[in-house]
Amino acid sequence: MSSNPEGLVRGAFIANEVVPVASGSSVPVLAPSDGIAFTEIAEAGEVEIDAAVAAGRQALESGEWGRLPGYERGRLLARLSRGILDHAEELVALEARDTGKPLGQARADIAAAARYFEFYAGAADKLHGETIPYFNEFFVATEREPHGVVAHIIPWNYPAQMFGRNVAPSLAVGNAAVVKPAEDACLSVLRMAQLAAEAGFPAGALAVLPGRGSVTGAALSAHGDIDYIAFTGSPGVGELIQVAAARRAIGCTLELGGKSPHLLFGDADLSLAIPAIVNGIVNNAGQTCSAGSRVLVERAHFDRLVAAIADGFGKLRAGTPEMNLDLGPVINARQQQRVERYCEQAKADGIALLAEGTVDAAVPAGGFYIPPRLYGPVPPDNALAREEVFGPVLCVMPFEDEADALRLANDSEFGLLAGVWTSDGGRAMRLARKIRAGQVYINGFAAGGGIELPFGGVKRSGHGREKGLAAMHELSTMKTIIHRHG
Ligand code: NAI
Ligand code: MG
Repeated sequence: MSSNPEGLVRGAFIANEVVPVASGSSVPVLAPSDGIAFTEIAEAGEVEIDAAVAAGRQALESGEWGRLPGYERGRLLARLSRGILDHAEELVALEARDTGKPLGQARADIAAAARYFEFYAGAADKLHGETIPYFNEFFVATEREPHGVVAHIIPWNYPAQMFGRNVAPSLAVGNAAVVKPAEDACLSVLRMAQLAAEAGFPAGALAVLPGRGSVTGAALSAHGDIDYIAFTGSPGVGELIQVAAARRAIGCTLELGGKSPHLLFGDADLSLAIPAIVNGIVNNAGQTCSAGSRVLVERAHFDRLVAAIADGFGKLRAGTPEMNLDLGPVINARQQQRVERYCEQAKADGIALLAEGTVDAAVPAGGFYIPPRLYGPVPPDNALAREEVFGPVLCVMPFEDEADALRLANDSEFGLLAGVWTSDGGRAMRLARKIRAGQVYINGFAAGGGIELPFGGVKRSGHGREKGLAAMHELSTMKTIIHRHG
C-alpha cells in the first residue's frame, strides 16, 4: 500500500478528479485490528452530490461516455480489470487494513473485484433485445437502455467486491455510476476509482462519494436527478431507500442480508459439508449477507453431525490481517457489541455453547475480536435463530424429517441463500424447489462467491438480482420500438 494512504483519499472522486469537499467535513478511519484511527476520509455533501450527478448526466447526454458502443465500454472494463490485478498487492493491503480481514481473504476479494470487471467486459456488447411478431405492416423490436445516473450505496463488509459487483454491470450497460461507499471501509473503492480514470473511462462515467450514510447516503438517495438506486446493507436502511425511490417512482434493487439455513441430513457427505458449513459463517468473521447462519440437523443423527461441526469450530482462530488465520476482527466497536449482546442473550436464555474458537493472544488490545461460537440446540423462536447477527456465531437446531426441515428453513423473514446437504438427489431437488430463497446450493455453499450466478433475495432479504447477466437486466430498462412500415 502507499506509505501515505491519506494522499489517496482526502476528497470525493468526481469527473476523474479527487476534489476536496466544500464542507471540509471528514470521518476518521479505524483499523479494526487495533481500533486505532490511521487516516480520515472526506465527507461528501450536497455540493459534491450535485456535482457528481450533474457530471454523470452530462457524460450520458453530451459527453463521450454516452456515445461509446458496448464493445468500447467492454474494453474499458477489461483495462480496469487489468489495472486492479496490476495493483493487487497494494489493494489487498489497503482492504485488509480497512476491514481487518485476513490477508488471504482480502487477496480473494481483490481477485474477485478484478473478475467482476473481466466478466462484464465480455458481456458489455452482448445484451440483446428481441423482435416481436405484430400486425403485418409493423416491425417491432426491443432494446435495453441504461437507466441513466445510478446511485450505488454499498456496505463495508466487502468494499472491493461490492464495487465490482455494482459498478461493473452498471458501466457495462452504459449507466453513469455514482457510488456511496460505507464510512467504515471505503479506501479500496476510492483507489479503484482512480484506477478507472487511469484505464481511460471518460469523465463522469463514475463518481465515488465517501461519507456517512445518514449524511451522504441519505442526500444521494433523495437526489432529484438520479434514475435508479442499487442498495446493499441493513433492512432498516433498505426501507428508507425504497421510500426515497418511491417518492420519485424510480426503481431500486435491495440486498438486505439474511438468516440463511443449511439443511443437513444424516446421509450427507461430511467431508464436503462440514468445512463448507464452518467456512460459510466464519469467512469475513460472519459479516456476509449470504452467511449460512442456521444449521438445521436431522434429529436421528443430531449428536454425530453436531459433534463434527463443533470439532471444526473449536479449531478456529481469529487474529490480525497479517496473522492470516481463519478470521479477523469485526468491523467496529458497535458491531462487536451487537454480536456480544446476542451471545449474552443466548447464555441468559440457557442455550448451550457447544464450541468456541480462540482469539490469538498476540492481537492488539483495542481490536474488535470475537471468538467464533457455536450454539445449540437453539429454539426456532429465539433471536439467534431469527435475526441476522453478522458475526462468527452459528446456531444448530434439530428437524424431524424432510417436511419439518422445509418448514424450518422457510420459517424466517429472510430468504437469501440455503444449502441442502444430502446424497438423496430426489430429496435435494424437492427441497431446492420449495425453499424460499434467491439461491439454493445442493452439496456446496459459497457465501459471497459466484460472479456468474444471479444473486438476490425474496421476502425481507430484498428484491432484484445482481451478479451474472441478470445484473445487466436489472441495471437497464427496456424500450420497445414499433415501426409501421406499411
Ligand atoms: P447500513 O445499512 O447502515 O450500511 C450500508 C450502507 O448504507 C453504508 O454505505 C451506509 O453508509 C449507508 N447508509 C446508512 N444509512 C443510510 C441512509 N439513511 N440513507 C442512505 N444510505 C445509508 O448497515 P450498518 O449499520 O453498517 O450495519 C448494521 C447491520 O446491517 C449489520 O449488523 C448487518 O446485519 C446489516 N448489514 C448487511 C449487509 C449486507 O451485506 N446485506 C452489509 C452491511 C450491514
Ligand atoms: Mg475501517
